[in-house]
Formats: sequence, C-alpha cells, structure tokens
Amino acid sequence: MSGWRTDTRDEIGVGLAGYGLAGRVFHGPLVAHTPGLKVRAVFSRTPARRDEAAAHYPGITTHATYEALLDDPQVQLVVVGTPHDTHEPMVVQAAQAGKHVVVDKIMALSVAEGERMIAAARQAQVLFSVFQNRRWDSDYLTLKSVLEQGLIGEPYVIESTVTTYGATPGYRNPTSDRPRGWRTYAEFGGGPMRDWGAHLFDQAVQLAGPQPLNVFADFQHRRDWDVETAGMAYLRYLGTAGSPERSGQSDQAGREGAPEGLRYVIETGSISAIQRPRWYARGSDGTYIQFGRDAQEAALNRGEVGPRVMDPENAPRLSRYVEGQLRDVPVDQVPGNYLEYYANVLSALRSEADLAVKPENVLHSLRLIEAASQSAQTGQVVNFT
Ligand SMILES: NC(=O)c1ccc[n+]([C@@H]2O[C@H](COP(=O)([O-])OP(=O)(O)OC[C@H]3O[C@@H](n4cnc5c(N)ncnc54)[C@H](OP(=O)(O)O)[C@@H]3O)[C@@H](O)[C@H]2O)c1
Repeated sequence: MSGWRTDTRDEIGVGLAGYGLAGRVFHGPLVAHTPGLKVRAVFSRTPARRDEAAAHYPGITTHATYEALLDDPQVQLVVVGTPHDTHEPMVVQAAQAGKHVVVDKIMALSVAEGERMIAAARQAQVLFSVFQNRRWDSDYLTLKSVLEQGLIGEPYVIESTVTTYGATPGYRNPTSDRPRGWRTYAEFGGGPMRDWGAHLFDQAVQLAGPQPLNVFADFQHRRDWDVETAGMAYLRYLGTAGSPERSGQSDQAGREGAPEGLRYVIETGSISAIQRPRWYARGSDGTYIQFGRDAQEAALNRGEVGPRVMDPENAPRLSRYVEGQLRDVPVDQVPGNYLEYYANVLSALRSEADLAVKPENVLHSLRLIEAASQSAQTGQVVNFT
C-alpha cells in the first residue's frame, strides 16, 4: 500500500545525488529515456562533474551541496548514487525533505539501517525504492524462466558468481585522500560481498526465497585492503527454487538425515583473472551454464539504452534429457531492460502499479549478507530456524 499521493500527470523532476559511474552511466540515461521522468538537477561536490552533468542535460540546475538539491522545488524524486556508507543518512534526509527517493544498491550497511530508512519514508509518506536493476538482467531473467519451465527439472545446485581481477577500476573519488577507490575501504561500506553481493543475494531471494535453513561463508583478505578480496557464501535451502516449501518448512530427510533441498552458492571477489561461469545450475533433468555478464552496462557505457539479450559469446547453454538422451537444447533468452525499473517507479508514483522493488523485500538480502559476514568472521554456520 502506498502512503504517498501523486495526483499529477505532469513530469516528475528527478535530482541525481552523485555523478560517478552510477549517476552518469545508469541513472541519468535511464531517467532521460523514461517518458514522464525528467532529469532536473544534479548534486556533486566536484565542479568538473557538475560541468559534465550540465553538458549532458542542458538546462538542469547543478548543486554543490546535497541540501541545495533537497531544497530544489523542481525535484520531486531524488536518486542517491553515492558510496554505501552515505545511503542511510542521505535517504533519511531526502524523506524528511518530502522527496521520493531511489537509492542504489546496496540499500544499507545493515538491516537496522535499512529499517530506519523504511521508517523515515513511511513517516514522510514518500515512495522509497532500491535500484536492484539486476532483477532486469537478461542472464537472471533467462535462468528464472528456465527454472520456472522446469527445464532442468528439480534444481539441486545453483551457483551465481561475479568476480573481477583487482579493484574495480575508476572508482577513486577525486575528492578523497585515500590512495584507492572507496570500494576497498570498510569505512565507505566497500567489499565485493556488499558491492556485487547486493545483487547476487537479492537474486537468490527472488529465485529461492528469503530464508534458507542456514548460511556458511568464507572470506579471504589477501591484499592491503580492509575489506575482503574474495568471498563465497553457501546457502542451504529446504525445498527447491520455485517450490512452496522453499522458504524452509519441511522436506524429506537425505541419506545422512540431513535435509535435501536446493544449495545456492554465491561467489564474489577480485582475485579472478579467468572467470567462472556467471550461472551454473544443475538439476534432476539437466544443467544450465552461462558465462559473461548482462550486456546492458557495457551498452549504457556506449550510450545505448534499451532491452538486450546476452552478447552471442555469452549465450546460455542448456543440456537436458530429451527422450532418454542428454542433449543440448536451445534456450529462449529473455531480454533484460533496466528501463522497466524506472517505468515501474513512475507508475507506482502515479498509483497505477505496485512498486516492484520494495525496500522491505530488499531487507531479506541484507539479512543474508549479514549472516554471511557473521559466518565468515566466526567460522560457524549461521542457522535461521
Ligand atoms: N546498480 C548498479 O548496477 C550499479 C553500478 C555501479 C554503481 N552502483 C552503486 O552506485 C553507488 C555509487 O557507486 P559509483 O560506482 O557511482 O561510485 P563513484 O563512481 O565513486 O561515484 C560516487 C559519487 O558519489 C559522490 N560522493 C562520494 N562520497 C560522497 C559523500 N560522502 N557524500 C556525497 N557524495 C559523495 C562522488 O563524488 P562527488 O560528490 O565529488 O561527485 C561521486 O559523484 C553505489 O551504491 C554503488 O554500489 C550500482
């Protein structure tokens, strides 16, 4: 149920807070390509970034402080695309200023922070959503469709991996005196398990449910960073992806008395010069494998906006039993399209649709990431039941 009231058919003015990778490559172009939304203002503390934004969107107002953006009467929706440690204070401030707000992932550094953000938005009766754009990735949507059609039968193991080699380049804040980008510092909420993990755990929640039986995780610290350089999390579910029991009620006992059900493995990190598959799913009737990432980020970097399937070299492969024979069968790819995220935000603002990414739902993934961190710190399995 929405607490906000937007009666107008008029365009909704959007203010971008932060004009780094997220603001410049993702939010600006996606908002600009969403009829009904319009980029009206950009906040950056760096003059060169403000100049860049003004050149990209002639006629907008640029602001050197966040307060000035929040005071801007042309802005009804604030999009926060800044480092992770700033998300809670900036979202709460936006809500208190009476602005609707979208925050980029990771929503918050903890469940407690996330709950405070939700409370502030409710109190102010503004829309609040998280940019979980990778629910609109082609690779994710195609696997989801394969699972829903039962093409690998009962899924036994789903492995979901995104890794890089070295720190993700280009993310050093020019105003910072730190020698590396903010993603390698705990104080800014860095670390690959928060960064890519925000997507991978959120997708796990959508595919397999919010509550595994337990989580075990192991993080390595191999460089002079104060966040992990690589990490793996192992989620043991009762039941299967898409089944009603998936959130952990009952299931048959396995051979050793251990419950059978889906195992979901998440890997992130920056130590992989050669990449594992993005998805590797094995089930009772077949196996699904797919390398490489969704093509939209690279396309957005080239200034191309709109739906896309995987690049040909990253097309998925599905091998399954057909008439008793194991065969490669064609996979119908589902196009990914981040524009659908903003189209939904606009429809929700106009009370024409339910909000697709509700912050309450995103809390589930934060809970799992907290459990993974706890497990990695203690070396213990974290049980949910
Ligand atoms: N969903 C996705 O696919 C995706 C992709 C990339 C990034 N992201 C997310 O987007 C967010 C930003 O990441 P990014 O890659 O865009 O980072 P970035 O390139 O480093 O840009 C960060 C922006 O925030 C501003 N900023 C930094 N510290 C700030 C502070 N304390 N207060 C206010 N503004 C501050 C920066 O500086 P100036 O003020 O000097 O301009 C810059 O404009 C993160 O949450 C990240 O996870 C999401």
